[in-house]
Amino acid sequence: MHSTAAATGALLTGCSLATKRARLVAGLSDAFQKDFRLGTSVKNHTLDTTDAPLLSLIAQEFNAITADNAMKWDALQPALKVFNWQRADQFVEFGRRHDMRMVGHVLVWHKQTPERVFRNHLDESDTPAFASRTQLLGRMEDHIGTVVDRYRADITEWDVVNEAIEGGKWLKSHWYNIIGPEYVQYAFQFARDANPNATLIYNDYGVTNPKKQDAILDLLKRVKKSGVKVDGVGMQCHLSLEDGYPSTKMIEQAIVRFAREGYQVFITELDVDVLPRAWQHVRQPPLQPLHIDEFTASEIRALDPYAANFPDPVSEQLGDRYASVFDVFMRHADKIPRVTLWGTSDSESWKNNWPILGRTNYPLLFDHARKPKKAYFRVLDVAQRQ
Ligand code: XIL
Repeated sequence: MHSTAAATGALLTGCSLATKRARLVAGLSDAFQKDFRLGTSVKNHTLDTTDAPLLSLIAQEFNAITADNAMKWDALQPALKVFNWQRADQFVEFGRRHDMRMVGHVLVWHKQTPERVFRNHLDESDTPAFASRTQLLGRMEDHIGTVVDRYRADITEWDVVNEAIEGGKWLKSHWYNIIGPEYVQYAFQFARDANPNATLIYNDYGVTNPKKQDAILDLLKRVKKSGVKVDGVGMQCHLSLEDGYPSTKMIEQAIVRFAREGYQVFITELDVDVLPRAWQHVRQPPLQPLHIDEFTASEIRALDPYAANFPDPVSEQLGDRYASVFDVFMRHADKIPRVTLWGTSDSESWKNNWPILGRTNYPLLFDHARKPKKAYFRVLDVAQRQ
Protein backbone atom coordinates (compact mmCIF):
# COMPACT_ATOMS: atom_id res chain seq x y z
CA MET A 1 0.00 0.00 0.00
CA HIS A 2 1.25 3.43 -0.87
CA SER A 3 -1.15 5.75 0.83
CA THR A 4 1.24 8.67 1.00
CA ALA A 5 0.49 12.21 0.02
CA ALA A 6 3.17 12.14 -2.65
CA ALA A 7 1.78 9.03 -4.29
CA THR A 8 -1.71 10.43 -4.16
CA GLY A 9 -0.43 13.65 -5.62
CA ALA A 10 1.11 11.89 -8.57
CA LEU A 11 -2.03 9.92 -9.22
CA LEU A 12 -4.24 12.96 -9.00
CA THR A 13 -2.23 15.08 -11.38
CA GLY A 14 -2.89 12.68 -14.21
CA CYS A 15 -6.51 13.85 -14.05
CA SER A 16 -7.66 17.29 -15.02
CA LEU A 17 -7.29 18.63 -11.53
CA ALA A 18 -7.01 22.38 -10.97
CA THR A 19 -3.35 23.29 -10.52
CA LYS A 20 -4.10 25.03 -7.25
CA ARG A 21 -5.56 21.95 -5.61
CA ALA A 22 -2.92 19.60 -7.04
CA ARG A 23 -0.17 21.75 -5.60
CA LEU A 24 -1.55 21.34 -2.10
CA VAL A 25 -0.62 17.66 -2.29
CA ALA A 26 3.05 16.94 -1.79
CA GLY A 27 5.11 15.34 -4.57
CA LEU A 28 8.21 13.16 -4.75
CA SER A 29 10.62 16.06 -4.25
CA ASP A 30 8.96 16.82 -0.91
CA ALA A 31 9.74 13.31 0.23
CA PHE A 32 13.45 14.06 -0.38
CA GLN A 33 13.31 17.59 0.97
CA LYS A 34 15.81 16.95 3.74
CA ASP A 35 18.17 15.04 1.46
CA PHE A 36 18.60 16.66 -1.96
CA ARG A 37 16.67 18.52 -4.61
CA LEU A 38 14.89 16.26 -7.06
CA GLY A 39 14.89 17.51 -10.61
CA THR A 40 13.68 16.63 -14.08
CA SER A 41 14.39 17.84 -17.59
CA VAL A 42 11.87 19.79 -19.62
CA LYS A 43 11.66 19.14 -23.36
CA ASN A 44 11.34 21.72 -26.12
CA HIS A 45 8.08 20.11 -27.14
CA THR A 46 6.63 20.63 -23.65
CA LEU A 47 7.56 24.32 -23.77
CA ASP A 48 6.38 24.80 -27.36
CA THR A 49 2.98 23.24 -26.79
CA THR A 50 2.63 24.60 -23.24
CA ASP A 51 1.62 21.10 -22.24
CA ALA A 52 -0.29 22.15 -19.10
CA PRO A 53 -0.94 18.70 -17.58
CA LEU A 54 2.71 17.69 -17.96
CA LEU A 55 3.92 21.05 -16.63
CA SER A 56 1.72 20.75 -13.57
CA LEU A 57 2.92 17.19 -12.98
CA ILE A 58 6.50 18.49 -13.15
CA ALA A 59 5.73 21.36 -10.77
CA GLN A 60 4.13 18.98 -8.33
CA GLU A 61 6.71 16.20 -8.31
CA PHE A 62 10.02 18.05 -8.78
CA ASN A 63 11.71 21.11 -7.34
CA ALA A 64 14.48 21.56 -9.92
CA ILE A 65 14.42 21.72 -13.72
CA THR A 66 16.93 21.46 -16.56
CA ALA A 67 16.06 22.34 -20.16
CA ASP A 68 16.95 19.26 -22.17
CA ASN A 69 17.64 21.19 -25.39
CA ALA A 70 16.47 24.80 -25.05
CA MET A 71 19.75 26.14 -23.67
CA LYS A 72 22.21 24.37 -25.91
CA TRP A 73 24.33 26.55 -28.19
CA ASP A 74 22.38 25.75 -31.38
CA ALA A 75 19.12 26.70 -29.65
CA LEU A 76 20.34 29.95 -28.09
CA GLN A 77 22.71 31.23 -30.79
CA PRO A 78 21.73 29.52 -34.07
CA ALA A 79 23.84 31.97 -36.11
CA LEU A 80 26.78 34.06 -35.02
CA LYS A 81 25.56 36.85 -32.72
CA VAL A 82 21.92 35.98 -33.45
CA PHE A 83 20.31 34.90 -30.21
CA ASN A 84 16.94 33.22 -29.83
CA TRP A 85 15.63 33.42 -26.29
CA GLN A 86 12.04 32.36 -26.73
CA ARG A 87 12.11 28.82 -25.34
CA ALA A 88 14.75 29.50 -22.73
CA ASP A 89 12.68 32.43 -21.47
CA GLN A 90 9.59 30.20 -21.26
CA PHE A 91 11.60 27.66 -19.29
CA VAL A 92 12.77 30.32 -16.84
CA GLU A 93 9.28 31.77 -16.57
CA PHE A 94 7.92 28.32 -15.65
CA GLY A 95 10.66 27.79 -13.07
CA ARG A 96 10.03 31.20 -11.54
CA ARG A 97 6.31 30.64 -11.33
CA HIS A 98 6.82 27.44 -9.37
CA ASP A 99 9.81 28.59 -7.38
CA MET A 100 12.02 25.83 -8.76
CA ARG A 101 15.81 25.61 -8.86
CA MET A 102 16.85 26.09 -12.49
CA VAL A 103 19.83 24.45 -14.10
CA GLY A 104 21.46 25.82 -17.23
CA HIS A 105 22.49 23.06 -19.64
CA VAL A 106 24.94 23.50 -21.31
CA LEU A 107 27.47 26.22 -22.20
CA VAL A 108 30.27 24.36 -23.99
CA TRP A 109 29.83 21.01 -25.70
CA HIS A 110 30.97 19.49 -28.99
CA LYS A 111 27.40 18.47 -29.85
CA GLN A 112 24.41 20.65 -30.75
CA THR A 113 26.78 23.50 -31.58
CA PRO A 114 26.63 24.86 -35.14
CA GLU A 115 29.68 23.87 -37.20
CA ARG A 116 30.00 27.53 -38.22
CA VAL A 117 31.07 28.39 -34.66
CA PHE A 118 34.36 26.64 -35.41
CA ARG A 119 34.91 28.18 -38.85
CA ASN A 120 36.45 31.36 -40.20
CA HIS A 121 33.58 33.54 -41.34
CA LEU A 122 35.65 35.60 -43.75
CA ASP A 123 36.31 32.48 -45.80
CA GLU A 124 33.23 32.01 -47.98
CA SER A 125 34.19 28.71 -49.55
CA ASP A 126 32.06 25.57 -49.06
CA THR A 127 34.35 24.25 -46.37
CA PRO A 128 35.75 27.36 -44.75
CA ALA A 129 38.99 27.07 -42.82
CA PHE A 130 38.84 26.64 -39.05
CA ALA A 131 38.56 29.69 -36.84
CA SER A 132 41.72 30.82 -35.11
CA ARG A 133 42.21 30.19 -31.40
CA THR A 134 41.59 33.87 -30.67
CA GLN A 135 38.42 33.94 -32.76
CA LEU A 136 37.01 30.84 -31.09
CA LEU A 137 37.86 32.05 -27.60
CA GLY A 138 36.16 35.34 -28.44
CA ARG A 139 33.01 33.51 -29.54
CA MET A 140 33.06 31.37 -26.42
CA GLU A 141 33.44 34.40 -24.17
CA ASP A 142 30.67 36.22 -25.98
CA HIS A 143 28.27 33.24 -25.80
CA ILE A 144 28.91 32.41 -22.16
CA GLY A 145 28.92 36.05 -21.05
CA THR A 146 25.66 36.86 -22.85
CA VAL A 147 23.78 33.73 -21.77
CA VAL A 148 24.92 33.55 -18.14
CA ASP A 149 24.38 37.27 -17.66
CA ARG A 150 20.86 37.21 -19.12
CA TYR A 151 19.76 34.54 -16.64
CA ARG A 152 21.91 35.73 -13.75
CA ALA A 153 18.98 36.22 -11.39
CA ASP A 154 17.31 32.89 -12.14
CA ILE A 155 19.83 30.27 -13.16
CA THR A 156 22.11 29.55 -10.27
CA GLU A 157 23.58 26.24 -11.46
CA TRP A 158 25.34 25.81 -14.78
CA ASP A 159 26.65 22.76 -16.59
CA VAL A 160 29.59 24.71 -17.97
CA VAL A 161 31.44 22.03 -19.94
CA ASN A 162 29.96 18.73 -21.09
CA GLU A 163 31.81 15.55 -22.08
CA ALA A 164 35.38 16.81 -22.59
CA ILE A 165 36.82 13.38 -21.83
CA GLU A 166 36.37 10.15 -23.77
CA GLY A 167 37.54 6.99 -22.04
CA GLY A 168 40.73 8.11 -20.31
CA LYS A 169 41.68 10.85 -22.78
CA TRP A 170 40.72 14.32 -23.95
CA LEU A 171 38.06 14.12 -26.63
CA LYS A 172 39.57 15.61 -29.78
CA SER A 173 36.68 17.99 -30.38
CA HIS A 174 36.95 21.24 -32.32
CA TRP A 175 37.14 23.01 -28.94
CA TYR A 176 40.16 20.95 -27.97
CA ASN A 177 41.80 20.99 -31.38
CA ILE A 178 41.55 24.74 -31.85
CA ILE A 179 42.04 26.05 -28.30
CA GLY A 180 43.85 23.19 -26.58
CA PRO A 181 42.94 21.70 -23.17
CA GLU A 182 42.77 25.20 -21.70
CA TYR A 183 39.38 25.61 -23.34
CA VAL A 184 37.84 24.12 -20.20
CA GLN A 185 39.42 26.62 -17.82
CA TYR A 186 38.45 29.50 -20.11
CA ALA A 187 34.84 28.30 -20.15
CA PHE A 188 34.72 28.17 -16.35
CA GLN A 189 36.44 31.53 -16.08
CA PHE A 190 33.97 33.23 -18.46
CA ALA A 191 31.04 31.71 -16.57
CA ARG A 192 32.51 32.76 -13.21
CA ASP A 193 33.08 36.31 -14.49
CA ALA A 194 29.48 36.54 -15.68
CA ASN A 195 27.96 35.20 -12.44
CA PRO A 196 30.41 34.95 -9.55
CA ASN A 197 27.83 33.32 -7.25
CA ALA A 198 26.64 30.55 -9.57
CA THR A 199 27.36 26.88 -8.92
CA LEU A 200 29.54 25.74 -11.82
CA ILE A 201 29.58 22.10 -12.84
CA TYR A 202 31.69 19.87 -15.08
CA ASN A 203 29.27 17.27 -16.52
CA ASP A 204 30.04 13.90 -18.13
CA TYR A 205 28.77 10.37 -18.81
CA GLY A 206 30.44 7.08 -17.94
CA VAL A 207 32.18 8.56 -14.90
CA THR A 208 32.02 5.25 -13.03
CA ASN A 209 34.98 4.18 -15.18
CA PRO A 210 38.07 4.75 -12.98
CA LYS A 211 40.21 5.72 -16.01
CA LYS A 212 37.70 8.37 -16.94
CA GLN A 213 37.65 9.57 -13.31
CA ASP A 214 41.45 9.93 -13.41
CA ALA A 215 41.22 12.01 -16.59
CA ILE A 216 38.40 14.18 -15.22
CA LEU A 217 40.29 14.79 -11.98
CA ASP A 218 43.40 15.76 -14.00
CA LEU A 219 41.27 18.17 -15.99
CA LEU A 220 39.80 19.64 -12.80
CA LYS A 221 43.28 20.00 -11.31
CA ARG A 222 44.38 22.01 -14.34
CA VAL A 223 41.41 24.34 -13.93
CA LYS A 224 42.10 24.74 -10.22
CA LYS A 225 45.75 25.51 -10.89
CA SER A 226 44.70 28.27 -13.25
CA GLY A 227 42.90 29.87 -10.31
CA VAL A 228 39.34 29.17 -11.47
CA LYS A 229 36.87 27.45 -9.17
CA VAL A 230 34.74 24.50 -10.27
CA ASP A 231 32.06 23.65 -7.71
CA GLY A 232 30.83 20.29 -8.79
CA VAL A 233 31.02 17.22 -10.95
CA GLY A 234 27.88 16.14 -12.78
CA MET A 235 27.43 12.41 -13.16
CA GLN A 236 24.93 11.95 -15.98
CA CYS A 237 23.94 8.40 -14.91
CA HIS A 238 22.37 7.00 -18.06
CA LEU A 239 22.05 3.48 -16.69
CA SER A 240 21.06 0.21 -18.29
CA LEU A 241 18.94 -2.63 -16.99
CA GLU A 242 20.33 -5.20 -19.38
CA ASP A 243 23.57 -6.06 -17.64
CA GLY A 244 23.24 -3.99 -14.50
CA TYR A 245 26.15 -1.84 -15.65
CA PRO A 246 27.44 0.25 -14.02
CA SER A 247 26.97 -1.50 -10.70
CA THR A 248 25.61 0.34 -7.69
CA LYS A 249 28.99 -0.12 -6.05
CA MET A 250 30.74 1.63 -8.95
CA ILE A 251 28.29 4.52 -8.73
CA GLU A 252 28.95 4.80 -5.01
CA GLN A 253 32.73 4.71 -5.49
CA ALA A 254 32.54 7.51 -8.04
CA ILE A 255 30.45 9.72 -5.73
CA VAL A 256 32.84 9.12 -2.83
CA ARG A 257 35.92 9.79 -4.93
CA PHE A 258 34.74 13.10 -6.41
CA ALA A 259 33.52 14.26 -3.00
CA ARG A 260 36.85 13.35 -1.41
CA GLU A 261 38.55 15.55 -4.00
CA GLY A 262 36.45 18.46 -2.81
CA TYR A 263 33.64 18.54 -5.38
CA GLN A 264 29.89 18.52 -4.85
CA VAL A 265 28.37 15.66 -6.81
CA PHE A 266 25.31 16.26 -8.97
CA ILE A 267 23.33 13.42 -10.51
CA THR A 268 22.37 15.29 -13.64
CA GLU A 269 20.62 13.02 -16.17
CA LEU A 270 19.38 9.86 -14.50
CA ASP A 271 17.46 7.26 -16.51
CA VAL A 272 17.51 3.48 -16.84
CA ASP A 273 17.37 2.03 -20.35
CA VAL A 274 15.33 -1.21 -20.21
CA LEU A 275 15.99 -2.25 -23.83
CA PRO A 276 18.84 -4.35 -25.18
CA ARG A 277 22.02 -2.36 -25.73
CA ALA A 278 22.30 -1.61 -29.42
CA TRP A 279 25.39 0.53 -29.93
CA GLN A 280 26.67 -1.80 -32.61
CA HIS A 281 23.86 -0.59 -34.88
CA VAL A 282 24.83 3.07 -34.82
CA ARG A 283 26.40 4.10 -38.13
CA GLN A 284 29.68 5.83 -37.57
CA PRO A 285 30.89 8.31 -38.36
CA PRO A 286 28.88 10.45 -37.98
CA LEU A 287 26.84 8.95 -35.15
CA GLN A 288 23.70 8.18 -37.10
CA PRO A 289 21.02 5.96 -35.56
CA LEU A 290 18.98 3.57 -37.72
CA HIS A 291 15.20 3.45 -37.43
CA ILE A 292 13.75 0.30 -35.89
CA ASP A 293 11.68 -0.23 -39.09
CA GLU A 294 14.93 -0.76 -40.98
CA PHE A 295 15.48 -4.08 -39.18
CA THR A 296 14.06 -7.52 -39.98
CA ALA A 297 11.04 -8.83 -38.07
CA SER A 298 13.11 -11.12 -35.86
CA GLU A 299 15.62 -8.36 -35.14
CA ILE A 300 12.74 -6.06 -34.20
CA ARG A 301 11.42 -8.66 -31.73
CA ALA A 302 14.83 -8.80 -30.09
CA LEU A 303 15.64 -5.08 -30.18
CA ASP A 304 12.22 -3.67 -29.30
CA PRO A 305 10.66 -6.38 -27.11
CA TYR A 306 8.17 -4.23 -25.15
CA ALA A 307 6.57 -2.28 -27.98
CA ALA A 308 3.11 -3.57 -27.00
CA ASN A 309 3.43 -3.51 -23.21
CA PHE A 310 5.89 -3.38 -20.34
CA PRO A 311 5.89 -6.79 -18.60
CA ASP A 312 5.51 -6.84 -14.80
CA PRO A 313 8.74 -8.70 -14.05
CA VAL A 314 10.76 -6.11 -15.98
CA SER A 315 8.87 -3.32 -14.25
CA GLU A 316 9.84 -4.96 -10.92
CA GLN A 317 13.45 -5.15 -12.04
CA LEU A 318 13.39 -1.47 -12.99
CA GLY A 319 11.98 -0.67 -9.55
CA ASP A 320 14.81 -2.64 -7.90
CA ARG A 321 17.39 -0.75 -9.92
CA TYR A 322 15.93 2.64 -9.07
CA ALA A 323 15.63 1.67 -5.40
CA SER A 324 19.24 0.56 -5.22
CA VAL A 325 20.66 3.71 -6.81
CA PHE A 326 18.48 6.01 -4.69
CA ASP A 327 19.65 4.05 -1.67
CA VAL A 328 23.20 5.06 -2.55
CA PHE A 329 22.18 8.68 -3.21
CA MET A 330 20.50 8.78 0.22
CA ARG A 331 23.52 7.36 1.98
CA HIS A 332 25.64 10.08 0.38
CA ALA A 333 23.07 12.85 0.49
CA ASP A 334 25.61 15.02 2.32
CA LYS A 335 27.67 15.07 -0.90
CA ILE A 336 24.79 15.36 -3.39
CA PRO A 337 22.81 18.62 -3.66
CA ARG A 338 20.57 17.42 -6.52
CA VAL A 339 19.39 14.30 -8.35
CA THR A 340 17.82 15.01 -11.75
CA LEU A 341 15.88 12.55 -13.89
CA TRP A 342 16.34 13.00 -17.66
CA GLY A 343 12.64 13.49 -18.34
CA THR A 344 9.36 12.88 -16.54
CA SER A 345 7.26 10.45 -18.58
CA ASP A 346 8.55 7.53 -20.63
CA SER A 347 7.14 8.94 -23.85
CA GLU A 348 9.43 11.99 -23.59
CA SER A 349 12.64 10.06 -23.12
CA TRP A 350 15.49 10.42 -25.61
CA LYS A 351 15.98 6.70 -25.00
CA ASN A 352 13.06 5.93 -27.35
CA ASN A 353 15.31 7.26 -30.11
CA TRP A 354 18.82 6.42 -29.06
CA PRO A 355 20.82 4.44 -30.11
CA ILE A 356 17.99 3.26 -32.41
CA LEU A 357 15.15 5.52 -33.55
CA GLY A 358 11.53 4.62 -32.86
CA ARG A 359 11.76 1.99 -30.10
CA THR A 360 9.46 1.94 -27.05
CA ASN A 361 11.47 2.43 -23.89
CA TYR A 362 10.47 2.73 -20.22
CA PRO A 363 13.42 4.46 -18.53
CA LEU A 364 11.70 6.97 -16.21
CA LEU A 365 9.39 7.12 -13.18
CA PHE A 366 6.13 7.96 -15.02
CA ASP A 367 4.76 5.73 -17.77
CA HIS A 368 3.71 6.66 -21.30
CA ALA A 369 0.33 7.76 -19.91
CA ARG A 370 2.15 9.86 -17.28
CA LYS A 371 1.05 7.66 -14.39
CA PRO A 372 3.56 6.83 -11.65
CA LYS A 373 5.23 3.46 -12.18
CA LYS A 374 6.37 0.81 -9.70
CA ALA A 375 9.76 2.48 -9.88
CA TYR A 376 8.19 5.72 -8.64
CA PHE A 377 6.82 4.00 -5.54
CA ARG A 378 10.10 2.20 -4.91
CA VAL A 379 11.93 5.53 -4.99
CA LEU A 380 9.32 6.99 -2.66
CA ASP A 381 9.83 4.08 -0.27
CA VAL A 382 13.55 4.81 -0.16
CA ALA A 383 12.80 8.41 0.86
CA GLN A 384 10.39 7.32 3.57
CA ARG A 385 12.50 4.52 4.98
CA GLN A 386 15.03 6.95 6.46
C1 XIL B 1 19.72 14.73 -25.37
C2 XIL B 1 18.28 15.20 -25.47
O1 XIL B 1 17.51 14.61 -24.44
C3 XIL B 1 17.72 14.83 -26.83
O2 XIL B 1 16.41 15.35 -26.98
C4 XIL B 1 18.62 15.37 -27.94
O3 XIL B 1 18.16 14.93 -29.19
C5 XIL B 1 20.05 14.90 -27.74
O4 XIL B 1 20.48 15.27 -26.44
N1 XIL B 1 23.89 13.84 -22.56
C6 XIL B 1 23.56 15.17 -22.42
C7 XIL B 1 22.22 15.64 -22.85
O5 XIL B 1 24.32 15.94 -21.80
O6 XIL B 1 22.23 16.97 -23.31
C8 XIL B 1 21.62 14.74 -23.91
O7 XIL B 1 20.27 15.16 -24.15
C9 XIL B 1 21.67 13.30 -23.47
C10 XIL B 1 23.10 12.87 -23.26
